[in-house]
Amino acid sequence: MNDATPYIPVDQKGWRLAMGLRPLEASKWLEVDSHRDEELALKDDLIKQQHEVVVAVRPEGDEASAELLEEVVSFLCSYHPNLPVDTDPNDHPIVAASRLVQEDLCVLVRSDAWRLQAACVCFPSRWSLVEKIGATLDNIHGPVPLYGEELSQPTNSVFDRMTSKRSFWRLNWTLLESSALHQPTSGRTSPEAKLGDWSFRVERQTIRQLPRTKAVVFTIRTYVTSLDELCAMEDDFCSNLLNALDTAPEAVQQYKGWVGVTDTLRSVLGQKDCR
Ligand code: HEM
Repeated sequence: MNDATPYIPVDQKGWRLAMGLRPLEASKWLEVDSHRDEELALKDDLIKQQHEVVVAVRPEGDEASAELLEEVVSFLCSYHPNLPVDTDPNDHPIVAASRLVQEDLCVLVRSDAWRLQAACVCFPSRWSLVEKIGATLDNIHGPVPLYGEELSQPTNSVFDRMTSKRSFWRLNWTLLESSALHQPTSGRTSPEAKLGDWSFRVERQTIRQLPRTKAVVFTIRTYVTSLDELCAMEDDFCSNLLNALDTAPEAVQQYKGWVGVTDTLRSVLGQKDCR
């Protein structure tokens, strides 16, 4: 394992679209690592300087956000008792909660459908929070190829059947030509920068129902590692990555900004004797 990402979700089976939900133990809800201080400082800057980009709240999400803050504090007290849990009472509770952890936090409340009603997302992977606030799960995922056909029904159904006793986690990954955590621009383009500047970006996402308000909390923890570093450290990574890129459908390649990437990667990675 390398220092930057504990998760490398590409394997020899190639690309596939899947919910990929796994049971989540209470003690593993949120993750703390050596990047904590630097990431919380970055969050602090973004919350101060780009508040309208990284925070979006509606009154419908206030009660659940307050409960989320209680749950985050309780989690830290139970599993990371040495970490501070001080908060500023002037912060909205979802902002206060977000300042305590490395994860981005989203609250979804069921009305006519599950809607995103509060969020503090400092490290988005090329999407814009302001475009998603108030939206349903289906509308949030509007740009995602195959989501409507393959994931909409199961995702809505999982949300409807959530209980506070059963939580889940899943992984999502992509390649981006920058290691910046904060990438709020909507839309992705194929990387043009030199391979040395590309990053393998993994999101560890969790879903949990809050016991009192019954809202669902969606957390996103982003791990970014340089592609070079991973190729050097992980034996099968290069061949699995090329296989995943090759087997992704055209529409997914377009959405992810992977068009043309395989050719560049194959030539550069081939020279590194990692296939
Ligand atoms: C089990 C639940 C979920 C599944 C299976 C799922 C699945 C996906 C998938 C496959 C993508 C495409 C990402 C990529 O390939 O790079 C995606 C994107 C995204 N998801 Fe989810 N998702 C789930 C829950 C949520 C929730 C609760 C939110 C609430 C904020 C959310 C917000 C997003 C956003 C904002 C994007 C980017 C959309 C864009 O490009 O505009 N997802 N999701």
